[in-house]
Amino acid sequence: MSFSGELRESWKKPPKREIFKPLSREQRSQFLDDYLEHLGQRDGVIDPVQRRFSIREQFFRDVEENPVRRTGALVVDPLVFARNEDKSYPETGLDEATLWALAVAKTNRAERDGVEYALARTDIKTLPRDDPYSYILIEEFYHTRILSDALSVLGLEMRDLPPPKTTQLLTHSMYHLPKAFSHMTILCSEIVGVAGFRLLADKAQELFSDQPQPLQRITELFQQILVDEVGHVHYARSQLGPVRLAVAEKMLSTVTQRFFEDIPEFELLFGREKLLKTVNTADVAGAVAQYNDRFVPKYE
Ligand SMILES: [Fe+2]
Ligand SMILES: [Fe+2]
Repeated sequence: MSFSGELRESWKKPPKREIFKPLSREQRSQFLDDYLEHLGQRDGVIDPVQRRFSIREQFFRDVEENPVRRTGALVVDPLVFARNEDKSYPETGLDEATLWALAVAKTNRAERDGVEYALARTDIKTLPRDDPYSYILIEEFYHTRILSDALSVLGLEMRDLPPPKTTQLLTHSMYHLPKAFSHMTILCSEIVGVAGFRLLADKAQELFSDQPQPLQRITELFQQILVDEVGHVHYARSQLGPVRLAVAEKMLSTVTQRFFEDIPEFELLFGREKLLKTVNTADVAGAVAQYNDRFVPKYE
């Protein structure tokens, strides 16, 4: 059966996933207050000119001032990495560490393209400071460097390459569609992102455990991104009523298909079954359960 056929089949099985259940008016209002408070505590004050946060910046300054690199022989050959970075399908026989690095680099391209497209068309100075979307935009901007920092630990430098056309179409449409529609695509994309990042974070534990300090740096970087993304999922859910949540749930298979077909390294690395199970479950709470800085909505 084809990838898309298998996706359609697997999507028929699960009961309604928690994240697609609608919130009451009170729950949505409470959520927005709580989420904004969480963002303020986690990120600090927005600096719209520099596109950064007062508190969050400290973490990244520490990363910059205290670079951590694996020692000894490189675990991924930079030439092989560079040769495959702009291939739509990687050459055969690559080991898991190389596939992991390529999946990270390609995911970053998709993220960076989406956020740069939105930022180029948004005057952040005019965005209200008490709107979670203002924080989310800057958090996404930080993500573009988090994945690059994770690859630096392996001694790799990624190039600024554009994502495949289908990914571009998806991310750009999210910006242009009216919010009433774009939040459905955004919810699905954030859910797929959480699944992908969780898988990559777990795979890093398997692949790089021989050197605890570099692994710790990769773990911390993925924690930053996962805690943010789960917050984005909850925010997108809070913006949708029952009908559009039901439509979003139907759209999840298509968004998943687009994303993972554009980054085949995921399927090569995790296998189709595990990949489908992870995205299918849409367990965003479980994806961050181990992190004490996670955001947990009161309704959970
Ligand atoms: Fe992101
Ligand atoms: Fe996000």
